[in-house]
Amino acid sequence: MRTAGIVLAAGAGTRMKSKKPKVLHELLGRPLVMWPVAALKEAGIDEVTVVVGPDDEAVSAAVEGQASVAIQHEKLGTADAAKAAMATDALASFEGSIVLAYGDCPLLSADTIRRLVDARIQEGAAAVVLTFRVEEPFGYGRIIREDTYRSDLPVGEVVAIVEQKDADERQAQVTECNSGFYCFDAAALRRALAQVKNDNAQGEYYITDVVELLRAEGLKVIALETDDVTECAGVNSRVQLAEATRAMQMRINRAHMEAGVTMLAPELVWIGPDVEIARDVELLQNVTLMGATSIGEDSVIGPDVRLTDTVVGCSCVVDETVAVEARMDDGATAGPRAYLRPGAHLCAGAKAGTHVEIKKSTIGAGSKVPHLSYIGDTTMGGGVNIGAGSITCNYDGAHKHATIIGDDTFIGSDTMMVAPVSIGSNVTVGAGSVITKDVPDDALAVARARESVYDGWTSAHRK
Ligand code: UD1
Ligand code: CA
Repeated sequence: MRTAGIVLAAGAGTRMKSKKPKVLHELLGRPLVMWPVAALKEAGIDEVTVVVGPDDEAVSAAVEGQASVAIQHEKLGTADAAKAAMATDALASFEGSIVLAYGDCPLLSADTIRRLVDARIQEGAAAVVLTFRVEEPFGYGRIIREDTYRSDLPVGEVVAIVEQKDADERQAQVTECNSGFYCFDAAALRRALAQVKNDNAQGEYYITDVVELLRAEGLKVIALETDDVTECAGVNSRVQLAEATRAMQMRINRAHMEAGVTMLAPELVWIGPDVEIARDVELLQNVTLMGATSIGEDSVIGPDVRLTDTVVGCSCVVDETVAVEARMDDGATAGPRAYLRPGAHLCAGAKAGTHVEIKKSTIGAGSKVPHLSYIGDTTMGGGVNIGAGSITCNYDGAHKHATIIGDDTFIGSDTMMVAPVSIGSNVTVGAGSVITKDVPDDALAVARARESVYDGWTSAHRK
């Protein structure tokens, strides 16, 4: 049977107190709305529709390429939002299962989605609702089952979901809550949505009213109770965003540890959902790995490292470093206090040391830039040593220019390489040089003022 997904994300999110739509706030580098979308896809559901408001261009743009977008023109409630999705070309005549999730609930797992879909089919139900129990259920829709007020009946099917604002005293006592995750039979959902009314405390069309409408048709509605309450946590405020981040951080870190990654303080390690880490990698404290970052075997990362979209090979050491769109091959080392900017490539065994910034440059195999340097727009061969404080002057105030340095060249400390300039292989450059002309292979280049020495000058002048 085919399965499609719907993610409702047209809500205002006023409690975030933000200029930005709530669902675009990021959790471990991924916008909130993309978490349920990713979970649906991981569960094997390719056809996903996200419902957004008419002015939410930024949300549509974030979703583009990952899911279809349906516009809910007025925020009339969750049933109205679901209707907007069901009216799109993709879903108008869809038959099969529909998994519905909320865009502000990022912790839903692919595993639970699969269980919802399987339960509906196995039980022959028109709908399955994921539920959870909490001691303080205030605010959630309450699950009313056949046996909710009857101890003489076995645990039963779901009769209704009652929203907090519509609950009477007895209903408000119920501790089983609606998570907001459902699996519906598409045709049954379509029929029920057409009948949902807004005669309730909030004057909204509630998706939760679908339950009673399906029951009235004589169809079966069941609950799947989860014991992992964190999976159902919604993000309505910045405090809840922090809580959800912590829960996802622990889930991701645990999975990496179980796969052979060492973290002695996992609460001080933040790893994005798309990061890949090989076994026997060690992550020390205050490490943030985001985007399409990957780390090869036996590398040690941290403390105080932030890597984004960066590829690190095997047996690398990355200490107190920031890297964005950079690459380190096997055995390369960075830091403490290196900054690898986009296009920085440290080849095997290369080093970017302390207070070293590298941009759009290749540092050849075994080459070393150990202290206080800026290297930009440079192609450097292997076995090069760059003395402390040496810099490529790649920018003339208007344009960027390239520097080329051949194999096994030694650049003395405090050298300015004024680009465009080419320095050959096996060259020696004297300390303090300002190199403006190309240097051929095997040469010595020195470009600095001569030193003058005046005997006895100090005591003659210091009175
Ligand atoms: C909803 C459920 C409640 C459940 C709770 C779980 C309903 C009526 N109630 O309540 O039973 O316990 O979630 O967290 O569904 N949205 C739209 N368009 C709208 C209204 C909402 O797209 O017109 C989206 C929101 O962006 C949000 C989701 O639907 O992602 C849920 O809406 P929200 O108003 O937050 O519902 P709750 O009051 O939390
Ligand atoms: Ca909510």
